[in-house]
Amino acid sequence: MKLMKTKDNSYTFFNEKYQEAYHSLTGALEEAQKKYIEPLEVKDGYIILDICFGLGYNTFVALENTKNIKVIALEIDEEILRDLQNIEINRKYEIIKKLAREKKYKDKDYDLTLIMGPAQETIKKVKEKVDCVFLDPFSPKKTPELWTREFFNGIFKIMKPGAKLATYSCARVVRDNLKAEGFTITDGPKVGRRGPSTIAEKPSL
Ligand SMILES: C[S@@+](CC[C@H](N)C(=O)[O-])C[C@H]1O[C@@H](n2cnc3c(N)ncnc32)[C@H](O)[C@@H]1O
Repeated sequence: MKLMKTKDNSYTFFNEKYQEAYHSLTGALEEAQKKYIEPLEVKDGYIILDICFGLGYNTFVALENTKNIKVIALEIDEEILRDLQNIEINRKYEIIKKLAREKKYKDKDYDLTLIMGPAQETIKKVKEKVDCVFLDPFSPKKTPELWTREFFNGIFKIMKPGAKLATYSCARVVRDNLKAEGFTITDGPKVGRRGPSTIAEKPSL
């Protein structure tokens, strides 16, 4: 996989099979911070579902901002988990590398699990009710199976009332499918792309 430096000096990869980069080239770590961690107001004590773990940047930035969190991450591809072992950031990213190798990490602050396989299937194994969701697949054109009503229904069911999901996409089909499953949609921040990202909230009871 081809390593690329993005404009905030953080690295990402370009995936040849999907012909897409793992992050916005305007800033990979900036994207995690601005599109996921900040709009979801990730806090100490949260239970988080990280769909499409990739290089683990969304979970990594969550670790940087909190303690006492639990993360359940879903990923299909072992190759990216091997490739991220070559990225050097800081000691917290070493936790991500260990998680990628061992699929489990636990210390006094963090309880992290990485479940391998197609997220459409592995989501059925998640027993926790989550406080927020990072939804970060490749684009709807490349991986339509991760943007369907059925998949969104599976996510909705394991979110607490009032919990929020963030995704970089504002595609019509994505928002229509989220709305059809009961989410309330608002614009997320515009960072590095022309359109806004999307925040989808499961209404409170
Ligand atoms: C845009 S990248 C994710 C970037 C990641 N969130 C990060 O911060 O580095 C999309 C990821 O989705 C994964 N993926 C593709 N199809 C999948 C599927 N059916 N189930 C789970 N993960 C999948 C890819 O292997 C890739 O790692």
